[in-house]
Amino acid sequence: MTNAYRIAVLAGDAIGPEIMKQAVRVFDIVQSHRDVAFELIESPFGAGAYFDHGKAFPDATKKVCDEADAILKGPVGLSFEESQKIPVEEQAERGAILPLRERFDTFANFRPIFLSKDMAHFSPLKPEVIKDGIDILLIRELVGGLYFGKKERGTNDAGLRYVTETLEYDEAQVRRVLKVAFEQASGRKGVVHNIHKSNVLMSSVFWNEILEEVRADYPDIEVKHMLVDAAATALCLNPGQFDVMVMENMFGDILSDQGGGILGSLGLMPSACMGPEKAYYEPSHGSAPDIAGKNIANPYSMIGSVAMMLEMSFGMAEESKAVWDSMKQVFEDGYTTADLTAHGNTETLSTEEFGNRVMDALEKRLG
Ligand code: NAD
Ligand code: IPM
Ligand code: MN
Repeated sequence: MTNAYRIAVLAGDAIGPEIMKQAVRVFDIVQSHRDVAFELIESPFGAGAYFDHGKAFPDATKKVCDEADAILKGPVGLSFEESQKIPVEEQAERGAILPLRERFDTFANFRPIFLSKDMAHFSPLKPEVIKDGIDILLIRELVGGLYFGKKERGTNDAGLRYVTETLEYDEAQVRRVLKVAFEQASGRKGVVHNIHKSNVLMSSVFWNEILEEVRADYPDIEVKHMLVDAAATALCLNPGQFDVMVMENMFGDILSDQGGGILGSLGLMPSACMGPEKAYYEPSHGSAPDIAGKNIANPYSMIGSVAMMLEMSFGMAEESKAVWDSMKQVFEDGYTTADLTAHGNTETLSTEEFGNRVMDALEKRLG
């Protein structure tokens, strides 16, 4: 029997629609070669949705997401200046992304930081530093911490305006994301780097206590502790020491963008946001307003997010690998995109041209 999947497609803002247009082509190719059917339902989400419908995450979009088997989301948001035209609560980040994460409780955010040997020249790091490439799985807790803690603004007794933002976790929230990290490590190199700030933050002391409980179930997994500030340096000086990294929400936001930095571009950063029942997939980066509308954005992160969906939501590991290999092949064939360092006789491709080459390669692999 044909497997049929319904996918909510939220193209987003700025470069979102440009890279999404390339990414969804993967579904057509896969369903033309395999016994599977994808139904894609496009829905407004983000700043554009606010301007058109008065809400960054309209009720109709919520319904589409509720009824979908998985959600594919492009980046949302505007430049700082343009965002000021939207009330703070309806700006795409607070009005759309965080509610989406909360709605589907997508607590485990997989952010692979990956550069094959043949793509190593894209990295700003010296060849002797990255050696055979970079292969890190950064797991970021996504629905707790500072992002979702109590917030308050007011005027204190001294008449000064103040703000409070709290970093909150309960033990179940910490346990479940740590378990995901240990499970992933079991299928990889058997090492978890636990990234924290227990020399200062009570939340990290608590996190580490829960880790001691969780690790008892994984006696074969080695745990390496590293403070988050030191981890920022280590990612640059010796990324090869890391395999699975796990950390709280805010640390993960920052270190994963640094991951894009050591690869050479945020355009190489796809991600999967896994909840107990549903997952959504998105690039780790933002909507890149500085390059929107020019057909130069790198769609790798968006196409890679589809590859992650095929494997993680639909169990299509072989097809997922074919997507990764197709993208890798385009780079190996001597092409690049505008965000990446040119190398030798490299020819720079537009967003659409990169999509064309990837889809041609994918056709051949699946055909
Ligand atoms: P950004 O990630 O959009 O851009 C940072 C830099 O990386 C820019 O120079 C940009 O051109 C480049 N870049 C990012 N993706 C690229 C790609 N695919 N190809 C080529 N270059 C790429 O960060 P920002 O400028 O700080 O944020 C812009 C907006 O995006 C903000 O409104 C922010 O809140 C939002 N944002 C959204 C998400 C999301 O939807 N998940 C994530 C991060 C930021
Ligand atoms: C990301 C983004 C988001 C975050 C923002 C836009 C809400 O930076 O997905 O990394 O901080 O989580
Ligand atoms: Mn971020």
